[in-house]
Amino acid sequence: MTQDQWNADRYEKNARFVSDLGQGVLDWLAPQAGERILDLGCGDGALTEKLITAGADVLGVDASPDMIAGAKARGIEAHVVDGHALTFDAEFDAVFSNAALHWMKKPDAVIAGVAKALKPGGRFVAEFGGHGNVAAIRTALSSVIEARTGIKNAPDAIWYFPSTSEHQARLEAAGFSVERIALIPRPTPIPSEMGAWLETLAAPVLASVDENLRPTIRDEAQELLRSALCDSDGNWTADYMRLRFEARL
Ligand code: BEZ
Repeated sequence: MTQDQWNADRYEKNARFVSDLGQGVLDWLAPQAGERILDLGCGDGALTEKLITAGADVLGVDASPDMIAGAKARGIEAHVVDGHALTFDAEFDAVFSNAALHWMKKPDAVIAGVAKALKPGGRFVAEFGGHGNVAAIRTALSSVIEARTGIKNAPDAIWYFPSTSEHQARLEAAGFSVERIALIPRPTPIPSEMGAWLETLAAPVLASVDENLRPTIRDEAQELLRSALCDSDGNWTADYMRLRFEARL
C-alpha cells in the first residue's frame, strides 16, 4: 500500500477478531522462552503480546505507521518496515506472521528477506489468506467495480491468496523445507455489517476507485452478498480460507 489505509480505531472496532483467531498459528509456532522472534506484519501488536508472554524476545514490524504506533503503545519493540524490504541478517530463531502475507504482492522478495533474517535451522510459521479466501466478497467487489468503472479484477491487484502448492514451491525455491502446510476453511462471524468489513479490511481495494464512488461500491457489494453471507437474524459471516504453514531452513 502506498499510503496508510489502516486506522487503528476502526480496526479495533471492526477487525479485532483477526488477532483473536490467531491461536491456531501460535500453536504451530510454539514460541519458547528466550527465542528471538520477528513478528512480520505485527499490526497493533495484540498477538505479538502473546509471544512476549511466552517469554520470547520479540521485534514487531509492519508497513503501517498507525499500526506500529498501536504496537508501541503496548510497550512492544516495533518498527515501520515494508515486508518486501527486510534487511535483517541471521538474527532470528523464528519469523512469525498472522494475516499479513496476503498484502505482500511480491512473495518471493518477502520469503528471501525472511530466509536471510533467520539463523541457520530457523523456522518460518505463518497464516494468511489462501486460495479461495473471501471468494464471494472478491467476486462481488470485482463485479461492482467493473460495472461502475470498467476496471477488471480490482481485488487481484491487492491480495495474494495462493494455493498450498504454489506457496510451498516458493518456500522451497528459497531453501526452506516445508514441514506442514494446509488450507483451512474458516467461515468467520464478523461484528458488523459487511459494509464496515469492506471499509476496514478491503480499504485498499476501495481506494483503487474514485473517492466519490466508494460508498456506492461498498453498498452495492454488500447487497450482492446479503443472500449468501447474512443470515435471517442479520448476522454476517465472511468466507475466510486460511493458508497455514511451518517451514525450516
Ligand atoms: C484475511 O485475513 O484473509 C483478509 C483480510 C483482509 C482482507 C482480505 C482477507
